[in-house]
Amino acid sequence: MCGIIGYSGQISVSTKPLEVCLQGLGRLEYRGYDSAGVALAAPGMEEVAWKKKAGRLSNLEESLKKNPLPGAQVAIGHTRWATNGVPSDVNAHPHISQDNKIALIHNGIIENAAALKFDLESEGYTFVSATDTEVAAKLLGKIANQIIEETGTPNLFEAVRRMARMLTGAFTILAVDVRQPDIVVGARHDSPLVVGLGDGESFLGSDVAAFVAYTKEALELGQDQAVQIQGGNVTVTDFDGNVATPKHFTVDWDASAAEKGGWPSFMDKEIHEDPEAVAQTLLGRFDLDGSLNLDEVHIDEEVFRSIDKIIVIACGTASYAGFVAKYAIEHWVRIPVEVELAHEFRYRDPILTPRTLVVAISQSGETMDTLMALRHAREQGSRVLAICNTQGSTIPREADAVLYTHAGPEIAVASTKAFVAQITAAYLLGLYLAQVKGTMYRDEIQDILRDLRAMPEKIQWVLDNQADTIHDAAQKLINAHSFLFLGRHVGYPVALEGALKLKEIAYTFTEGFAAGELKHGPIALVEEDEPVVVIVPSPRGRNILHDKIISNIQEVKARGAFTVAVAEEGDPDVEQYADVIFWRPQCPTLMSPLVDVVPLQLFAMDTAELKKLDVDKPRNLAKSVTVE
Ligand code: F6R
Repeated sequence: MCGIIGYSGQISVSTKPLEVCLQGLGRLEYRGYDSAGVALAAPGMEEVAWKKKAGRLSNLEESLKKNPLPGAQVAIGHTRWATNGVPSDVNAHPHISQDNKIALIHNGIIENAAALKFDLESEGYTFVSATDTEVAAKLLGKIANQIIEETGTPNLFEAVRRMARMLTGAFTILAVDVRQPDIVVGARHDSPLVVGLGDGESFLGSDVAAFVAYTKEALELGQDQAVQIQGGNVTVTDFDGNVATPKHFTVDWDASAAEKGGWPSFMDKEIHEDPEAVAQTLLGRFDLDGSLNLDEVHIDEEVFRSIDKIIVIACGTASYAGFVAKYAIEHWVRIPVEVELAHEFRYRDPILTPRTLVVAISQSGETMDTLMALRHAREQGSRVLAICNTQGSTIPREADAVLYTHAGPEIAVASTKAFVAQITAAYLLGLYLAQVKGTMYRDEIQDILRDLRAMPEKIQWVLDNQADTIHDAAQKLINAHSFLFLGRHVGYPVALEGALKLKEIAYTFTEGFAAGELKHGPIALVEEDEPVVVIVPSPRGRNILHDKIISNIQEVKARGAFTVAVAEEGDPDVEQYADVIFWRPQCPTLMSPLVDVVPLQLFAMDTAELKKLDVDKPRNLAKSVTVE
């Protein structure tokens, strides 16, 4: 939520700071696209130079073409997902201090903004916007001037720290001051900020996408830390000014990975990266003898052996990945696995012990609900293992251990390749637990790993062979007012995920149900031509599930439904009863979610595209939900 970038270069006046900001904002726009803005400072400026515009970044770029800003040494840029105040020019960031010397941008929510504003107003400060950020800008201006009065010299770093100590809520703040035109200062509390290390230049960003085109060397900023960048120099302190040593890391993907690379949309590209996301997540996690090796998570085997319960905490798509994993892990490890929406978890006094392993699943590693649940679990003495796709993000940093998914950057707001990578990582965790706890024979584990390794090829088969059928179905159902998605066993969370994809990017009212629930209420929704999408398990193996789902298809069909089935190639019963079939190649039931979700992702994307909607940036949403 909200993308933030900052840049400090060596040359006192150049166009690079603005170029870096606009380039970075382009890569960060998936975090919010209600408005965008930049502010610049250079030696000799009396007031900060800035521009901001409601709407997409392109609006700001157009406006900058008409009225260019001057060259500068430092710059900050912001792309907004509105929390406080409607999306408009005036509410866009940056916000400016009363004397126009300082510009400030912010991600998060300042909870005590109203009280601070009241005090500032009583001192004569005036406000033009409805945002909490403007309160911070005015407050920072006041504190910066107080410091000049006290010491005779400007000290933006100290001013930001003093202000950070006064704010409550969640924030990442960046600021520039014309009186120190070679520095950018940042501070973070419960909101992300990473530092990029260039050659004689430095960067700040909400995530590494902000600066990966310039450098892959980065620092993770800890909770309640402030940072000053000045050309190639970086200083990090806590909010009291004590110097801190941040953790260095190297970004493991190239800038090109965060580009469309010829695809019409990021979502299209990312769905086509599903096979690679699974393959990459499996890579390098085996010993020479083929046994699973998760040494990277740095939890002793002894501790893993003692685990007697798993609680998965996650939101949205990530929670459905956890839900899929529940079926597999309970089956393999024979310990209970609960899946809990992170925002519900900490408000219900969950039973947590040192033998509970809490697994926090998050693509972004920044989802505030998941982060708060993680903190709660750790406070209660449980170990937290993060399954995460984003290096340097907060959730893996605060967890006891991390298992990275290696899906590469996911830019489209709707999560796709992260889902299959999360299932893969959670399966690896389950099999590893089975290995150390001895709940499965080595041969059994090897068989499942072989099945897992075969999945990228099977996903590719769906992408190569089912696209036309899926597109035709989307065309046929384009005017449907609502959809029902049904599944049983692992097909149930897949149905929930398919329904979520369709509602979030095609804006069609869609519900996912456990198919067995149908007769307990939802079947009343079925009327003539109501589209019902059904995930059909394999007729081989646990065919009792298959038969029950076939009965469900018949039940809705008898009431006029138009049925779309996701089913195993050549399933004769499905051929008889479904109106449209998206085929999957044969695979074991527990592996089927990895393929079954793929046609549903394509179906949602095709439907949204046919409706001429922006599939990468659906309305009202943002990629990283960094507020509760
Ligand atoms: C749906 C979607 C969201 C996220 C959820 C959690 O397509 O993207 O439901 O899955 O907001 O996000 P992360 O995984 O970043 O914690």
